[in-house]
Amino acid sequence: MEPTQHWERVYQTKAASEVSWYRPHLDVSLGLITSAVPDRAARVVDVGGGEATLVDDLVAAGYAHVDVLDLSATALQVARERLGESGASVGWLHGDVTTFPGAHDAGRRAAAVRVLHVPRVSRTASGVRGTRRS
Ligand SMILES: C[S@@+](CC[C@H](N)C(=O)[O-])C[C@H]1O[C@@H](n2cnc3c(N)ncnc32)[C@H](O)[C@@H]1O
Repeated sequence: MEPTQHWERVYQTKAASEVSWYRPHLDVSLGLITSAVPDRAARVVDVGGGEATLVDDLVAAGYAHVDVLDLSATALQVARERLGESGASVGWLHGDVTTFPGAHDAGRRAAAVRVLHVPRVSRTASGVRGTRRS
């Protein structure tokens, strides 16, 4: 099964809280980002963000430029509807990070990129990269 089909099936058959990796809040990731990138005007990209509430918490923390990139349109829609008006500034990017147009440049411009469990990049990668904006 193709990765997109796999993840669509996951999100179409399970509620957000039913997946094994569910956490109400991703406090470790949020703490790493706020510590590495205190500038709320910086761009933050959550790659493979799925339905996670990290985007909610980043917006609530005042980050004005947050993008969520994911293979699953269903997951992005669930997160988008959950945020409602408070997510108006969020960029919802549907696609594969390995082929998404502009993903490389977007990553280079971003102050923080969080990557979690992205097949073909790394099955165990979990981290945040902070860079200074020029
Ligand atoms: C284990 S889930 C984690 C979701 C979310 N980060 C969380 O903590 O709840 C992995 C996510 O990565 C996404 N994903 C997997 N491969 C991807 C790729 N090549 N490009 C973009 N997203 C991808 C999946 O659709 C899924 O939402």
